[in-house]
Amino acid sequence: MAKPTPTFECTACGARYPRAMGKCGACGAFATIEEVKGSLRAGLERSRSAYGSSGYQGPVPLTEVEISETQRAATGLVELDRVLGGGVVPGMVVLLGGEPGIGKSTLVLQWAAAGGGTVLYASGEESERQIKLRAQRLGAENPDIHLFAETDVRRILEAAERLKPSLLLVDSIQTLYDPEFESSAGSVGQVRGCAALLTRWAKGTGTPLVLVGHVTKDGGLAGPKVLEHLVDTVLAFEGDRHHHHRLLRALKNRFGAAFELGVFAMTERGLVPAEGNPFFLEAEPRPGCAATVVLGGTRPVVVEIQALVASAGLGIPRRTALGIDGQRLSMLCAVAERRGGVQLHDRDVYVNVAGGLEVEDPAADLAVVAALLSSATGRLLADKCLFLGEVGLTGEVRPVAQLPLRLQEGARLGFERAVVPRLGLEAGTARLELFPERGVDRLRAKGWLTARAEANETD
Ligand code: TYD
Ligand code: MG
Repeated sequence: MAKPTPTFECTACGARYPRAMGKCGACGAFATIEEVKGSLRAGLERSRSAYGSSGYQGPVPLTEVEISETQRAATGLVELDRVLGGGVVPGMVVLLGGEPGIGKSTLVLQWAAAGGGTVLYASGEESERQIKLRAQRLGAENPDIHLFAETDVRRILEAAERLKPSLLLVDSIQTLYDPEFESSAGSVGQVRGCAALLTRWAKGTGTPLVLVGHVTKDGGLAGPKVLEHLVDTVLAFEGDRHHHHRLLRALKNRFGAAFELGVFAMTERGLVPAEGNPFFLEAEPRPGCAATVVLGGTRPVVVEIQALVASAGLGIPRRTALGIDGQRLSMLCAVAERRGGVQLHDRDVYVNVAGGLEVEDPAADLAVVAALLSSATGRLLADKCLFLGEVGLTGEVRPVAQLPLRLQEGARLGFERAVVPRLGLEAGTARLELFPERGVDRLRAKGWLTARAEANETD
């Protein structure tokens, strides 16, 4: 019989190759390609047979599909419920990704304690004792939480079959292995195989399942990238370890809105819903600072955009963007120069989003331009004023989504006026005074930059 040809697979992204290679052509990672022992097909066959009794039954007419009444169960953590779209659904599989140390284990433990009902917390990362110590610290000692320090996925499933928990937590998916699959723990084959087994069990029994996954420095879910299609919901836990707030974002959600945002503060006693707004510092107006409202899912968040325009000396002028896209900053600099009437091409430009939030929302464009103009001219922007609008290449201010929602949040935080796009404005939507603008060229002309700051600039 012919020897089966070996297959090689990148442990980071799952790309397959007929031979070993030093660098993965698909994701560019080095030394990640390993031989796959035991075929994927065999792995799938095993997962099918292992829990076949509880799972797939065959096609059913659409009209005869039963939907149980007990739909969503709140987790007991307000910010988490918001991100999940109101709570967990039976059989929902959630992948919780984040960098090491960000607070994933803390979040799942709090989830376990708050949820009510029997919870199986399987950990391949920490001992029962370590988890107990954390639980003591969090005030989360709950007899309904059953700890299991185990990395063998078959044993975890066996325990789950016996315990019949109302929630299964696995921390982390990369530490699990399936003894029937010859590949090292953490390899794509193992991660995928273990997740498939667990998912199958969750779907079959209607038990919500949470898989914790580590992400790599560049932000991708290492290994778990290949799980994103398998799970119902992908949550990313992010934040700067130096700031105490943490953001929970739904990158995908089959049971609710994607891109929903939850904001926590990491305290001595674990994660608590963030109070107030950590991204907006209520300070004296300063030149180079402009406020705007970005959307994180359905949540409006007021953020402060800070710009600093400084002499580049004899060097090549730099453009440094923190929290916004660098390409976008280059474009907005060019627009500010051509349409806004300030000279930037021979100066260094730094733009930062206060509080460490990553802003992708184009509605922040106008605030970036306003902050650039303010810093370049050394003048303050109008007080208690929001700048909302996407900026195009001709300097035109374009409409933004959900303007009334954003204005409402601004009003709540004490803003009194807003520069907004001329188009797409509905009458009577805001408690703020609105100033519709067509283009950024009007910002200087209309007196949005006051003369007051010159004194500030020199002290
Ligand atoms: P952890 O949940 O272990 O992170 P992960 O599982 O994502 O690797 O949390 C790590 C950090 O959180 C750790 O540096 C300490 C901090 N922390 C608190 O500040 N307060 C707390 O109550 C707990 C439990 C942790
Ligand atoms: Mg952990």
